[in-house]
Amino acid sequence: MKPLRVALLGCGVVGTQVVRLLEEQRADLAARVGAPLELAGVAVRRPDRVRAGVDPKLLTTDAEGLVTRDDVDIVIEVIGGIEPARSLLLAAMKTGKSVISANKALLAEDGATLFAAARESGADLYYEASVAGAIPLLRPLRESLVGDRVQRVLGIVNGTTNYILDQMDTHGAGFEEALEEAQELGYAEADPTADVEGFDAAAKAAILAQLAFHTPVTAADVHREGITEVSAADVAGAKEMDSVVKLLAICERVPGGDGVDRGVSVRVYPAMIPRSHPLASVREAYNAVFVEAQSAGSLMFYGAGAGGAPTASAILGDLVAVARNKVAGTPGPVEVTYASLPVLPMGETVTRYYVQLDVADRSGVLATVAEEFARNGVSIQAVRQEGSGDDAQLVIVTHRASDAALSATVETLREFDSVRRVASVMRVEGDE
Ligand SMILES: NC(=O)c1ccc[n+]([C@@H]2O[C@H](COP(=O)([O-])OP(=O)(O)OC[C@H]3O[C@@H](n4cnc5c(N)ncnc54)[C@H](OP(=O)(O)O)[C@@H]3O)[C@@H](O)[C@H]2O)c1
Repeated sequence: MKPLRVALLGCGVVGTQVVRLLEEQRADLAARVGAPLELAGVAVRRPDRVRAGVDPKLLTTDAEGLVTRDDVDIVIEVIGGIEPARSLLLAAMKTGKSVISANKALLAEDGATLFAAARESGADLYYEASVAGAIPLLRPLRESLVGDRVQRVLGIVNGTTNYILDQMDTHGAGFEEALEEAQELGYAEADPTADVEGFDAAAKAAILAQLAFHTPVTAADVHREGITEVSAADVAGAKEMDSVVKLLAICERVPGGDGVDRGVSVRVYPAMIPRSHPLASVREAYNAVFVEAQSAGSLMFYGAGAGGAPTASAILGDLVAVARNKVAGTPGPVEVTYASLPVLPMGETVTRYYVQLDVADRSGVLATVAEEFARNGVSIQAVRQEGSGDDAQLVIVTHRASDAALSATVETLREFDSVRRVASVMRVEGDE
């Protein structure tokens, strides 16, 4: 059968691994697809750079020319960022090419434009590698679970922050120290903002929520808090509760009183989860995502969330799927965001909270503090009083309450004479 010709946009950490796998698995891929896969060209910024295993004759700086070439059937985009990636993918689909992308930033910011272009042109748009690297997650949501009703997606989708929090938990390291170590070991970039401030996880949460709930969600809709404010004291507090702090991406349906969904909640923040929860045992830079569906129940997906070869594995999986569709002459599934559920403001999110207060050691403080929680409708599940004198502390764990009610409580507590400092406020997830 006539070979299917593949254009690769970008040849960095991921792209070089895609080239390697295409070459190493050439025969198997051809057998699985039913046609040989041939690399037609590789677009890069710096063509003079030596790239092991890449034929220099395939390199070009003319990415636009490459994606619109008549002898190209499939385009893989591993450049990253919004432009020129978006224009290149749109140009490719316009000329009938199917596309594969690992670009979470683009999918989360402007997936709608790409999905519309795919629908119009009949092209495939696959992007498994954009969330949680090697872990098959988008296809299960897009295909395996499409007959079910996904209620909730709860996951660790950023390896850098998981590595840092894991170091803080295991060695009692502070955030800065753990970040430095992660940078030395190559788990964190020189500019770690996208990871530690939660932007990367928020983009992935948007992609997951959109697929899980068939509703449009962009990165801007996601409530985002990073881990830069997580202190050694927060982590120690979690330990005392037999819990661990993880940066979680949470996407869930929010039911209305009438049994109809009022909307969805999509958020990223560091939270405590009990050590007995499966996500608590996700160590180092690994990723894991917990999916709760009405009929399927709870499912857990675990593995390497990044890295050249793991990410390239997900891309090759997409490539085989897209190539098979080309051979069969039928496109794959398209994204349908028919549900149009609103993304609810963070204040309406309901969860549990851990609050640690440094308080004056005198009688009546506990009662005054408890009264303020009650006044805002936040019910206390457990309270512990520790220390004495200048070291007196109250540790409070609440039942489920709205974020707005908890924030109002904490704001007022900060003004109390008897509260010397609000030492820690952290959400508690993963159990009732
Ligand atoms: N790295 C991971 O573990 C991982 C995991 C999951 C998803 N992803 C996603 O995969 C994508 C690529 O990541 P990466 O780590 O491989 O990035 P990278 O190492 O920085 O590689 C980017 C590549 O794009 C090329 N490039 C940049 N601007 C270009 C332009 N205007 N025209 C043509 N080529 C251009 C660069 O060319 P030069 O080589 O000439 O500079 C480089 O080869 C991103 O969307 C990222 O979010 C990465």
